[in-house]
Amino acid sequence: MRVKLVAGNWKMHGNLVANRALLQASISALSSLDAAKFAVCVPYPYLSQARELLNGSNISWGAQDLCQFESGAYTGAVSASMLTDFGCRYVIVGHSERRSVFGDTNETVALKYAAALKAGLSPILCVGETLAEREAGAAEAIVGAQLDAVLVLARSGAQSLARAVIAYEPVWAIGTGKTATPDQAQAMHAAIRRRIASQDQGIAGRVNVLYGGSVKAGNAGELFAMPDIDGGLIGGASLVAEEFIAICRAANQVSAKVQA
Ligand code: PGA
Repeated sequence: MRVKLVAGNWKMHGNLVANRALLQASISALSSLDAAKFAVCVPYPYLSQARELLNGSNISWGAQDLCQFESGAYTGAVSASMLTDFGCRYVIVGHSERRSVFGDTNETVALKYAAALKAGLSPILCVGETLAEREAGAAEAIVGAQLDAVLVLARSGAQSLARAVIAYEPVWAIGTGKTATPDQAQAMHAAIRRRIASQDQGIAGRVNVLYGGSVKAGNAGELFAMPDIDGGLIGGASLVAEEFIAICRAANQVSAKVQA
C-alpha cells in the first residue's frame, strides 16, 4: 500500500523570518496527521534552519538539486553528502526549471539521481512534457524517455526506485495556474507505472508517483483521489501556510481512507 506524500518545493523563495513562520505553522497544523508523509525542499542556505525547526516533527526536509560529483573543484556546487550532513531525506532532481534554465540534460539528471541514491537520499525525479509535446501527441513518449534515461543511463534499474519518488510535472502546468485534469494526470501516472512494471512489477506497485503543476487547496483532493496519484510536489502553494496545510490535510484524508 502506498502512503501519500506531499512535498513543498520552495524554489528560490524565502528568508529566515518568513521561513520560520511558515514552518512553525506547518509543524503545529500537521503534527496530528499520521496517514500521509510531508516534506519541504528548501534553498541550500536554509537547510540548517529547516533542520533546526523540523527536527522531531513529522515533516522531512530536503534540497532542490545536487551536484553529480562527490567532491572537488566544482565552484558553486553542493554534493549529496553535504545534504545528508544537514539531515536531508529528499532531493529533487531533473526539475523542468533545472532542465530549461540551467541546462540539465537527461544524462546529468541520471548522474544526479545515482549520486543521491548512493548517499542514502531519496531522489524526487521530475519528468514532464511541454505543451508543444503534448499537442503533438508525444507526451507519453517524452516522459517515458526521461524515465528510461535515468533507469537505463544511470544503470540504476527499476530496483533503484525502491527509495526514489517520481514527480510527473507537465511543464505547461507549472506555475501557470493550469492544472492537468485528474484524468489527464491519472492517465500519465498509470503509463509511468506500466513502464516501470515492464522492468519490475513489485517496484511499480510500490513507488510513489506525485503530481506537480499548480496544485492548490482547491484541486488537491480530487487529484489525490485518483488511484495512481500518490500525492503532490507543490510549488507556489507551498509558500502559503494555509494552502500548504490544506493540501497536506487533503492527502492525509485520502490516505487515511485507503488505509481504513
Ligand atoms: P507550482 O510548481 O505548484 O507552482 O506549479 C510545481 C513545481 O514546479 O514543482
